[in-house]
Amino acid sequence: MRIEALRAGYVKGGRVAMAVRDVDLDVAQGEFLGIAGESGCGKSTLAFAMTGLLQPPGKVFGGKVWFAGTDLTRLDQRALRHLRWQEFSIVFQASMNVLNPVARVKDQIFDAMIAHGVRDRRRLHARAVELFRLVNLPPRFLDAYPHQLSGGMRQRVAIAAALALEPRLVVMDEPTTALDVVVQRTILQEIDQL
Ligand SMILES: Nc1ncnc2c1ncn2[C@@H]1O[C@H](COP(=O)(O)OP(=O)(O)O)[C@@H](O)[C@H]1O
Ligand SMILES: [Mg+2]
Repeated sequence: MRIEALRAGYVKGGRVAMAVRDVDLDVAQGEFLGIAGESGCGKSTLAFAMTGLLQPPGKVFGGKVWFAGTDLTRLDQRALRHLRWQEFSIVFQASMNVLNPVARVKDQIFDAMIAHGVRDRRRLHARAVELFRLVNLPPRFLDAYPHQLSGGMRQRVAIAAALALEPRLVVMDEPTTALDVVVQRTILQEIDQL
């Protein structure tokens, strides 16, 4: 991914608070890029803007986000949905809270795969087991409901779901902030290994 002069911010009463100003960055295949900065400096706005998820009053004002030969800022929502999960995926700070409380976690992992055309039950199950192993969750928890898992385990489920379709890029916005320090460290080490 290559970001060129990205500008994004929020429109408030006719004024614009520009949270992301002329950001350039490059992430090569196999590369990790970490962004650090104080609270409110624009990290989340950047993550939303680069993935086409910035909602009003947020707005991208300029710049380009090159990915897989296309400028993502030019794509409509439908085209973006097609790329999301398959080509790039996102894990947010509160991803663990967006799990559906009344659905087994395996079905939520299956959802992304089904939406992108994987229909074979056996393949879905085999991939889910593989993903759980990747994020260090015992496969027996595939049948669990979110409330039966700890916060750390639920965030691992969110990470597993983000990896389901082998995206080329995973954007993570403070994926471990909501967790206790020991779990944060473990999960960050796991992400590093992945
Ligand atoms: N929905 C919003 N409406 C207006 N301003 C916002 C909104 N979300 C974030 N901002 C502002 O944009 C700036 C960057 O915020 P954010 O990207 O969340 O920073 P970070 O993730 O680095 O903490 C902050 O000044 C924040 O107040
Ligand atoms: Mg943030």
